[in-house]
Amino acid sequence: MGEHDEILDELAGLAADGVAELQRIDDLKDLGSAASRFLGKQSRLADLKAGLRDLAVEHRSTLGEALNAARTQLEDAVEVRRQHLDELAVGRRLAAERLDLTEELGRERNGHLHVITQTWEQLEDVFVGMGFTVADGPEVETDWFNFEALNLPPTHPARSLWDTLYLDSDDLDGIAAEQLLLRTHTSPVQIRTMIDAVRSGTGPPIHVVCPGRVYRRDTADATHLPVFHQIEMLVVDHDVSMADLAGTIEAFTKAYFGGDLTSRLRPSYFPFTEPSAEVDISQPDGSWLEVGGCGMVHPNVLTACGLDPEEWSGFAFGFGIDRLAKIRHGVEDLRDFVANDIRFLEQL
Ligand code: PHE
Repeated sequence: MGEHDEILDELAGLAADGVAELQRIDDLKDLGSAASRFLGKQSRLADLKAGLRDLAVEHRSTLGEALNAARTQLEDAVEVRRQHLDELAVGRRLAAERLDLTEELGRERNGHLHVITQTWEQLEDVFVGMGFTVADGPEVETDWFNFEALNLPPTHPARSLWDTLYLDSDDLDGIAAEQLLLRTHTSPVQIRTMIDAVRSGTGPPIHVVCPGRVYRRDTADATHLPVFHQIEMLVVDHDVSMADLAGTIEAFTKAYFGGDLTSRLRPSYFPFTEPSAEVDISQPDGSWLEVGGCGMVHPNVLTACGLDPEEWSGFAFGFGIDRLAKIRHGVEDLRDFVANDIRFLEQL
């Protein structure tokens, strides 16, 4: 076998081995370096081509063809492999960037305000819309603000209308000189508001509402809670009448519940109002639910706050926020509001 045949053999092996190796490469960078190793200036192929001119003329063309054929095989193999690896890379990138728009992400569970807080805020909004400002006062009150200034002196029999939770003032290391209690209604805020207005010279006229938490020594049932919420309304001005009070309550009922529900007053008794009434609001089923009390501010109450009852008159009401929420949301049992059952609370 002459040199010429050896070279033909070598070329055949070179091409076959090269193609086989190229087919195993799975990285574009490796493919680039393999391509220059097989086909570049330093390659065996380039050497053999350079050696052509030393060969006998009659061998040159067959060897030249064989060289070209080997080169073409290797170039084709590089090209096929490059396309294949390109496709793989694109596929990988698409897979990585793929957005599955059908995927169920599971709704984020946002909390929301408790229904009583929502009701409280809605009531404030309604009264602010009617021109009232919002006032507040402490939940721990003195006997004077909660009872005495409201025309309920210590021996007044009507005190038993409020089952009161008293604080043991001895435990407070003498901080409290007076009998402390948990306020049984928001009416002491009437007193605080009138005294503040007189002292600061900002009123009357006074138009305030006061929403807040109140306490009674009561057992919880469907219509009572020992801790509940009231919204107090107080107007003090010249010559206001029971008709103004009834009109304000009806305007509130329409504004809060919409046109379908209406209110009525039933004669009643509170030491701090004269005359006094209970307020009922009609239910969607035609029955009436008591939501609170109201009346014309008693002259003794005005006097206790430093206002002259000859000059000023006032009206007030106190509504149960929880009861208003009960009507509005059709809740059967007030205790559901505080049972902390997420299945109930989520719906409101
Ligand atoms: N404070 C009374 C109660 O809680 C309600 C009320 C408020 C009555 C204002 C008259 C005027 O029972």
